[in-house]
Amino acid sequence: MTRLQVFLGVLSASLVLALGIEYDLYVGEPSSLEEPAARDIFGKWKRQHNKEYESDEEHEKRFQVFHDNMQYISAYNSRVKSHKLGLNSLADNSHEEYQATRLGHKPDETLQNKCEELPFAVKDVPEMVDWRKQNAVTSVKDQGSCGGCWAFSAVAAVEGIEAIYTGKTPVSLSPQEVIDCDSDNHGCNGGVQAWAYLWIMKNGGITTEDRYPFKEDTESCSTDKLADHVAQIDGCGVVPPDNETAFKLAVAQQPISVAVAAKQKAFQLYVSGVFDGDCDQFVDHGVTAVGYGTQGGQGYWLIKNSWNEHWGENGYMKIAMGVDAQEPGGKCAILSQPSYPVKHGNKPPSHFPPSPPQHIQCDMYSQCDSTQCCACTVSYPGLCVEYTCYESSDSRCHSGFDAAHRAI
Ligand SMILES: *[C@@H]1O[C@H](CO)[C@@H](O)[C@H](O)[C@H]1NC(C)=O
Repeated sequence: MTRLQVFLGVLSASLVLALGIEYDLYVGEPSSLEEPAARDIFGKWKRQHNKEYESDEEHEKRFQVFHDNMQYISAYNSRVKSHKLGLNSLADNSHEEYQATRLGHKPDETLQNKCEELPFAVKDVPEMVDWRKQNAVTSVKDQGSCGGCWAFSAVAAVEGIEAIYTGKTPVSLSPQEVIDCDSDNHGCNGGVQAWAYLWIMKNGGITTEDRYPFKEDTESCSTDKLADHVAQIDGCGVVPPDNETAFKLAVAQQPISVAVAAKQKAFQLYVSGVFDGDCDQFVDHGVTAVGYGTQGGQGYWLIKNSWNEHWGENGYMKIAMGVDAQEPGGKCAILSQPSYPVKHGNKPPSHFPPSPPQHIQCDMYSQCDSTQCCACTVSYPGLCVEYTCYESSDSRCHSGFDAAHRAI
């Protein structure tokens, strides 16, 4: 595609969006899947993601994996319309590698029971909730190849309740402290969020990411930092499993840790939209539900992941709401094990500080002002390599993540 065509594509898409019609802008060119073009795309992707490989052999192996993933993405995107896969930060991971390094939720019913089912503070649920807009969510973290998702998930929920109860901008807390010091869990080899809450309670609090930084490995516990209690919790709760009504009440109350079944390749390569693809009911990954809403008539749960902001919608994913006989725990079993930290005392009625200024993230590395729209100037299937910003009066384009992705 030439620059002009792409730009016009974006403009006409804005027009279509203004009329409320969904528009698929991921136009794949089959020729780009052929090897020379694919190598070129791989080079651009490596630069975008600052990837370097140890040897030529490793480079070649990565290219083969990347090329396989490109073919998978292209076929998937031509078949599925509700969400998109793309060349995100995990596009050079084989499916086996992905499963071995990125997941790490270890379900265990015994300790989970120590967190109780509690009554919800919320009685009427709003139509949509986004805790990011209430300034109760920190920026997206990156667990790297450490299977410590459970700690990231628990810490995100603690950051949330701390912000809600103090009315202050949330401070990024330390998953590494929990990974190293909570011996009921298994550090980078997996764990459960509810145990992490129990550990934080027992310790009397948790310190910040700055003071106890992430090391991408299980290390010995830095005991000198244990008394540094920047955030504290008083208890923990579990949401009755497989109950969408209860889960909605919980998410309207605060960010909630959840376990999901994430082993599918489509989960690995997700970039945008409401994910309603194939998933099983065996949970293996911990994330945090930070809201819910509706897109294109489909309800979704908004989840914060810990695979950096170059995965999904700037690090977030929308998972389809809905329960059926095949999926009693909801899509990807998101309703199966929700848990959350509890704080006692008085919370300020709704004394949230203003959210930090928003910009539109076109993709991983390009941003536009919140008054502008992103226009893709060089694109490949599922990957826009270059963006420019343009002024537009279409307010939908200013409203954040979806608009930015639709502009690809
Ligand atoms: C699901 O949760 C709601 C809200 O707490 C409750 O009223 C309802 O009885 C629960 N449903 C089942 C089947 O347990």
